[in-house]
Amino acid sequence: MRTARVIRLKQRPAGTPTPADFDIVGEPLPELADNEVEAQTLLLSIDPYIRLTLDQAAPGSVIVGSGLARVTRSRDARFKEGDLVRHRAGQREAFVCSGATLAKAEFAPGLPLTAQLHALGGIGLCAYGGLFGVAKLQPGEQVFVSSAAGAVGSLAVQIAKVAGCYVVGSAGSDEKTAWLKEECGVDAAINYKTQPIREALAAVTPKGIDVYFENVGGAHLEAALARMNLNARIPVCGMISNYNGRVPITFGEELITKRLLIKGFGFTDFGREFYARFHADMTGWLMDGRVKFFETVLDGFERVPEALIGLFTGLNTGKMMVRAAS
Ligand SMILES: NC(=O)c1ccc[n+]([C@@H]2O[C@H](COP(=O)([O-])OP(=O)(O)OC[C@H]3O[C@@H](n4cnc5c(N)ncnc54)[C@H](OP(=O)(O)O)[C@@H]3O)[C@@H](O)[C@H]2O)c1
Repeated sequence: MRTARVIRLKQRPAGTPTPADFDIVGEPLPELADNEVEAQTLLLSIDPYIRLTLDQAAPGSVIVGSGLARVTRSRDARFKEGDLVRHRAGQREAFVCSGATLAKAEFAPGLPLTAQLHALGGIGLCAYGGLFGVAKLQPGEQVFVSSAAGAVGSLAVQIAKVAGCYVVGSAGSDEKTAWLKEECGVDAAINYKTQPIREALAAVTPKGIDVYFENVGGAHLEAALARMNLNARIPVCGMISNYNGRVPITFGEELITKRLLIKGFGFTDFGREFYARFHADMTGWLMDGRVKFFETVLDGFERVPEALIGLFTGLNTGKMMVRAAS
């Protein structure tokens, strides 16, 4: 019987995951049943939410995940050998799944297929939707984005610049803050690992903050709360500083006196019309170079644990992915 490698959870992580929390093993590839498809994984999307699933997952189970794959065999009339598809089959080098769980991957003209895993996919929709759908961003507003050199953050800062805003980003190294200024065009960048975030943020937000695009939580959120303007908005995309263990947050009376809106959201929250607007705007910005996308791609399926752990040590700039095959 043919086998394919999978990444299994060996034990639930205590805090930040370590390589010892994962196993790489071969699993049999089942025979195809009607309406099923067999595919070989090309790229895996490595995302912070995967860490959250590990606290509930049973040891021995395959780590969840999505990515791009090439169809190798098909008993679903909608797919044929060689088709490129987006899948949610988990961290598997090859897999058999129902064709109903797959979507054909379509090239946007002039853009690589990988853009579907970030700028033109849920990652881009998060950045665009958080700013325009949730925060109703207006030209000229004061914007702060945390984890600004990450997948969502690097798009959010650039979109806010396209919208004509003053934009501050935070990231965890001097290389990243320099990169944010040079490549993403932010007005100011803070290295939160070398500067106290509260004081550093106050120094670069002389007009306060109208929109805080929240990716991190904890001390970042507390620092931003202290700088929020009247009627400011906080679209909460994620809180990565919480994912390896809860970080307490103190809210004060500024919630009331500043009439703040704090709203969590997911990229699936936005309707068809909004999605069409996002897709058209983002495609245009990517094509004319006003928005750039960035990728950190680790080569080799066996590097999935390294990539996942790397999300919490700042290994990535832009979207973290693993290339399993080409
Ligand atoms: N709501 C949704 O539908 C949705 C969808 C996708 C993502 N998200 C969330 O959005 C956020 C960004 O996601 P992403 O995919 O773009 O990931 P990402 O920002 O690329 O995540 C990895 C980066 O997070 C930073 N980081 C890790 N631990 C940190 C900590 N304790 N404090 C501050 N920064 C830390 C690191 O950068 P540094 O070097 O700067 O530390 C790392 O490179 C995450 O919270 C994610 O869960 C939500």
